Amino acid sequence: MIINQPKIIETLNNLYLEEKLEDIKNGIIKIKKNLVSFKYDKVGFLNIDSNGQTLNLKKDYLYNELEQILETKTKERTKYYIQRLIKGLSKTKTGKINDINLYRWKEYDDIITNSLWILDKRDNSGVHSAEYWGNFIPQIPNQFLKRYTKKDEWVLDPFLGCGTTLIECQRLERNGIGVEIQKKVVNLAKNILDKEKGLFNKDVITKIINGDSTKIDFQEELIKIGIKSVQFLIMHPPYWNIIKFSDDENDLSNTKTIEDFLFLFGKVLDSTYSILDKGRYLAVVIGDKYNKGEWIPLGFYTMQEVLKRGYKLKSIIVKNFEETKGKMNQKELWRYRALVGGFYIFKHEYIFLFKKR
Ligand SMILES: C[S@@+](CC[C@H](N)C(=O)[O-])C[C@H]1O[C@@H](n2cnc3c(N)ncnc32)[C@H](O)[C@@H]1O
Repeated sequence: MIINQPKIIETLNNLYLEEKLEDIKNGIIKIKKNLVSFKYDKVGFLNIDSNGQTLNLKKDYLYNELEQILETKTKERTKYYIQRLIKGLSKTKTGKINDINLYRWKEYDDIITNSLWILDKRDNSGVHSAEYWGNFIPQIPNQFLKRYTKKDEWVLDPFLGCGTTLIECQRLERNGIGVEIQKKVVNLAKNILDKEKGLFNKDVITKIINGDSTKIDFQEELIKIGIKSVQFLIMHPPYWNIIKFSDDENDLSNTKTIEDFLFLFGKVLDSTYSILDKGRYLAVVIGDKYNKGEWIPLGFYTMQEVLKRGYKLKSIIVKNFEETKGKMNQKELWRYRALVGGFYIFKHEYIFLFKKR
């Protein structure tokens, strides 16, 4: 909702000066009534044209804060909550790595802070779609960009695919660079991003490079753009050979052994390490696989590769895994196979989160 900031702050300040708890609470009830709609708004909280700045905030946040004030038993507590609300409506306090206003932290109920992510539905809004086999759900980059980057900062995704990360960058006004080895997938990503730009038209730079992330000199690429470093890295490599993406021998999905896969992944880690700012984050999204009946912990192997480079492990997130279309049609068969073969059907993948020391 959009409110008239000075009006509401002035009203709250006046209530703060009241002597009687009852008068304060009646005042809060009045504010709530006025906020219901223009029709009931006698004070002008919703009249954003009349004198003063506007404030865009979540309705639930404001209502919950007002409700909390009403539930208090003592005048001191009531005044404390009023003061907290005034601060939340008038001041901004952000940390070094994101734009989250800590004075209004309760407003960010969309940001996940626990390590088990059960996401029911893929965000299919606008140009997002599940069409590119092997793309991740947009909620993954969306969560991390909001938490680990500020507006106008730079993000690098060295396994771009169809461009999910860059779409989210555009929506959240972050600049983004993506590298993808397949020309045809680069073209697909460009088309999708052009459409996205048409829809949202945010003023950010989006750069797509058709290249091999195991070989690219990232420092040079940044110089071409006119920047020295990036503030967030997100990597969603092939899960070894589960999906064969192309015939290119440096495509990580074409490596013959797990050692080769980790070697090439390590090369991407090495070449991107120096361009990430100190104290900033790297997210690696990956799942495990079975090979000849044996569970291969690809996730933990890749995690070890990152740790070898000196990153600090910040979190291991377990995320539910959408069933692939193929498996969905053969649910019964897979269940039978699992019972006979003594194995479990994959329903989760990992997101490892690291911080550069
Ligand atoms: C799991 S997909 C990433 C999907 C992406 N997150 C999305 O949402 O579309 C991995 C991608 O990495 C690409 N890839 C594999 N090896 C690569 C390399 N050496 N350099 C750059 N891209 C590579 C593949 O072609 C594939 O598109």
